[in-house]
Amino acid sequence: MTDAFIPKNIIVTGGCGFIGSNFVHYVVNNHPDVHVTVLDALTYAGNLENIKPLLGDQVEFVHGNICDAQLLDELVPGHDAIVHYAAESHNDNSIADPEPFLKTNVEGTFRLIEAARKYDVRFHHVSTDEVYGDLALDDPAKFTEETPYHPSSPYSSTKASSDLLVRAWFRTYGLRMTISNCSNNYGPYQHVEKFIPRQITNIIEGIRPKLYGDGLNVRDWIHTEDHSSAVWTILTQGRLGETYLIGANGERNNLTVLKDILRVMGQPEDAFDWVKDRPGHDRRYAIDATKLRTELGWKPTHTDFESGLRATVQWYVDNPQWWEPVKAATEAKYKAQGQ
Ligand SMILES: NC(=O)c1ccc[n+]([C@@H]2O[C@H](COP(=O)([O-])OP(=O)(O)OC[C@H]3O[C@@H](n4cnc5c(N)ncnc54)[C@H](O)[C@@H]3O)[C@@H](O)[C@H]2O)c1
Repeated sequence: MTDAFIPKNIIVTGGCGFIGSNFVHYVVNNHPDVHVTVLDALTYAGNLENIKPLLGDQVEFVHGNICDAQLLDELVPGHDAIVHYAAESHNDNSIADPEPFLKTNVEGTFRLIEAARKYDVRFHHVSTDEVYGDLALDDPAKFTEETPYHPSSPYSSTKASSDLLVRAWFRTYGLRMTISNCSNNYGPYQHVEKFIPRQITNIIEGIRPKLYGDGLNVRDWIHTEDHSSAVWTILTQGRLGETYLIGANGERNNLTVLKDILRVMGQPEDAFDWVKDRPGHDRRYAIDATKLRTELGWKPTHTDFESGLRATVQWYVDNPQWWEPVKAATEAKYKAQGQ
């Protein structure tokens, strides 16, 4: 038996980032009666262009920081849910400078759950499968909701910390909350620092793509639209206090994904360079989403990775004005790290 919840007026934190903005598009396309207030600090990873065409009666934008308790006191009353995507999200950045990750991912989540509890607003916390650490390549196991936390990087340890805060606020204060831990997303509006967009935009610019380590690290890819539908399902049908893993059986190693991208873009499959590995690079992630599928009846629609990848490549080809302004600085940062 699930708690049916019909939201009317939600706050989406981080709604100008990759996954948050895709979620805002998803709500506009599928739930025209739901008002969305996007709260976003517009860090280097946020881009108002992602949601600009949607702004109007249904979608409102507030420029602000989730660590700002006073702003939350003004903003949260009157809303019936917070869907929390805002985060520092890039592992490599967390290794170079962990502090903003502590601030946004831990303190920011703390401020939000305090506001949610004060104004009795339902809270959905968007998290990652990286909190579970990694699996061996030859291990038949996948992550489940019962897998112990074992985060490897500053990024994943701050996400794990925020998950634990949200759980404690349920147990201690009765915060009406749910958590989702999702695998790696791909799709439009993803920053060019991330693996798939970096490779695509390198190829468009005539730069040879770079592959970390031996390229055999496995990620469990899911299209961001499927992540959105899963979050919506959990928000509206999930049981309070529960965690749901989100995944679409998309396990692929990085070498295979890079070869897929090269093939889709008409390049030879060996037209890339090997570079040194990321320190502490997790070997394999894999999600068992049985609970979400059986309990809430969710299923992904983008089950053909190659066709989702083709559409994603096409999006970057069609939208150079979106990524070109940040491309050179992103590559310069990688170059300084030898990657
Ligand atoms: N990218 C993935 O594959 C993936 C997978 C699973 C879970 N997640 C989780 O999904 C969420 C979104 O990830 P993403 O890839 O879209 O990230 P992103 O880096 O693309 O976007 C983050 C957004 O949050 C905003 N933001 C950052 N700090 C803020 C602050 N202090 N106050 C207000 N806004 C702030 C940024 O401006 C940006 O718009 C994160 O919580 C991440 O942990 C991501």
